[in-house]
Amino acid sequence: MNIHVEPLSEQDMKPVFDNPEQLDFGTVFTDRMFTMKYNTERGWHDAKIEKYRPILLEPASCVLHYAQEIFEGLKAYISKDGRILMFRPEENAKRMNRSAKRMCMPEIPVEDFVQAIKELVMLEKRWIPKQKGTALYIRPTMIATEPVLGVHPSKEYLFFIILSPVGPYFKSGFSPVSIYVEDKLVRAVPGGVGDVKTGGNYAASLYASVKAKEKGFSQVLWLDAKEHRYIEEVGAMNIFFVYGNKIVTPALNGSILPGITRKSVLELAPDLGYDVEERLISIDEVLQGIENGKITEVFGTGTAALIAPIDSLYYKGRSYIVKNKVGEVTKVIYNDLVNIQYGEAEDEYGWVYELGEL
Ligand SMILES: Cc1ncc(COP(=O)(O)O)c(C=O)c1O
Repeated sequence: MNIHVEPLSEQDMKPVFDNPEQLDFGTVFTDRMFTMKYNTERGWHDAKIEKYRPILLEPASCVLHYAQEIFEGLKAYISKDGRILMFRPEENAKRMNRSAKRMCMPEIPVEDFVQAIKELVMLEKRWIPKQKGTALYIRPTMIATEPVLGVHPSKEYLFFIILSPVGPYFKSGFSPVSIYVEDKLVRAVPGGVGDVKTGGNYAASLYASVKAKEKGFSQVLWLDAKEHRYIEEVGAMNIFFVYGNKIVTPALNGSILPGITRKSVLELAPDLGYDVEERLISIDEVLQGIENGKITEVFGTGTAALIAPIDSLYYKGRSYIVKNKVGEVTKVIYNDLVNIQYGEAEDEYGWVYELGEL
């Protein structure tokens, strides 16, 4: 793919914002973005890296009415020895294409997706924060831009990538979060789009998460839509339960997002000496397990938070407190993963993608 790079003037270069104490999640954006257009006649065309700026859309654009939109989230890191690294970007490219297929949108060749990120991040490398735990968050997004009112797939699309230097996703960093178990509202239904990364899933989740936040909880744990009984996932994370030496997570069922961090934990945990299990887990089993001490730790996994220890679940008016607030297994998995991501441990799995030097 040939990417045209538009020059930036001195005034377009904002001061870099990288104080790790002040880095919020997703509030500051770098100087440039990648854009590429699609229409049914020409396919993908006009790949560009240009100034980060508002995008012009017709008010009739399909995305604004029928929510034909998909996105991804991944990060670039700086290793101690000054290499710029990403974690399994091809997995994000593949998931984006699965989302595209389900939402009747055009796929993007995996190598073009990765190349676009690579060229953009390398141009913006001064924006990658250096401290461990911080990163440059990468948000590839595709929207339907055809200006026509009618419920059918758009004939025109815009794919763009924006970058944001980020600190920890949760204000509390690697300290435990408490979770509200939602027993009435649902995020995704069988046969729906819960397993793809489309904005509508997140819009549908807002009401419950606002209510949970008002009550002092950082995220919602969703149960299945049919019986309100089986564990699905947390707002922007998959969830794991530790039973001593065994780590259990809900099996992918079509309404859970197949997280790349989830997949990585399932792959590396056996090498760290843990058994892993993907299966149906009911809320009753979890609450009982927390009460009788069989569940020793609970944690969430996701690109934004990486591994988030969970210290309690609130369900139908009662808090169930997990014994090991930041348990050993959670710490071991966190350290192993973060050391691979920051290039400090040997990458035996071939997960690290080196973009270049600082
Ligand atoms: C709903 C949802 N579940 C799970 C995840 C975790 O996925 P990943 O590990 O690929 O970031 C995310 C974040 O992308 C998410 O938005």
